[in-house]
Amino acid sequence: MSRRVDSIPANRRFWNRISEAYQQKHDPQIGAKPRLWGTYAIPDAHLQALGDVTGKRVLELGCGAGQWSRALAAEGATVVGIDLSEAQLAAAATAMGAASYPLVQGAAEQLPFAADSFDVVFCDYGGLSWAPPRLAVPQAARVLRRGGRLVFNVASPWFEACYDEETSRATTTLQQDYFGLDTIDEDEGAVSYQLTYGDWIRVLRGAGLVIDDLIEPRPGPGTANGYNRTDPPDWAHRWPAEMLWVTHKP
Ligand SMILES: C[S@@+](CC[C@H](N)C(=O)[O-])C[C@H]1O[C@@H](n2cnc3c(N)ncnc32)[C@H](O)[C@@H]1O
Repeated sequence: MSRRVDSIPANRRFWNRISEAYQQKHDPQIGAKPRLWGTYAIPDAHLQALGDVTGKRVLELGCGAGQWSRALAAEGATVVGIDLSEAQLAAAATAMGAASYPLVQGAAEQLPFAADSFDVVFCDYGGLSWAPPRLAVPQAARVLRRGGRLVFNVASPWFEACYDEETSRATTTLQQDYFGLDTIDEDEGAVSYQLTYGDWIRVLRGAGLVIDDLIEPRPGPGTANGYNRTDPPDWAHRWPAEMLWVTHKP
């Protein structure tokens, strides 16, 4: 059963508070090269999820410090980055470099854009991890033009269900109910979101999107996870830690 929450104020406070430390710790990995997906920094060239964005109108939902947006703008896309947190947006503005693109403060569940505004909407642990997917997916579908693509990477229900809060690591034991994941309490009242596989399919199809692929990024056995400890260390080589959905609006 879904717990109805307005997570916007708490998530905004949370990201404002952790932004500086988060970027210090993670920007070197996220921004090491263009187009790296997820906690194992797997190149898009390997996964082939996003495709050519040259000349396309692209929206990054929950862009953080904009490592992805910066790279796509440099490739010739017309990019907009939206994020809830002014501290994260400030980090993106500082890191923007020559290929500048607009930044907008706002929430993935209440997108301030007209219908049919974008050719590609995407995120990597962004607005579809930190806003309720039942609200944010229909918003993403609304702002896409026909033929446009929604591509996003989130943690897998496997990873969430096996994550042990006590020891802060993914384990080989089921720690939490799969059917109870839905809203995941983060620190200080912040909330992230997860759906069952069936609910992701229903939410995407319910928003009128066609599911083209569900890529399960698989790191090599020695690939470091820059965020979470896992036990065993090669957990994500053996089980799917992330899911990268590739969809389009027909
Ligand atoms: C993990 S970061 C994703 C950015 C980048 N890909 C990364 O991995 O650092 C999550 C981002 O989502 C933003 N965020 C949280 N809730 C949001 C919401 N409701 N709408 C849009 N962005 C949100 C946060 O401020 C944060 O910048």
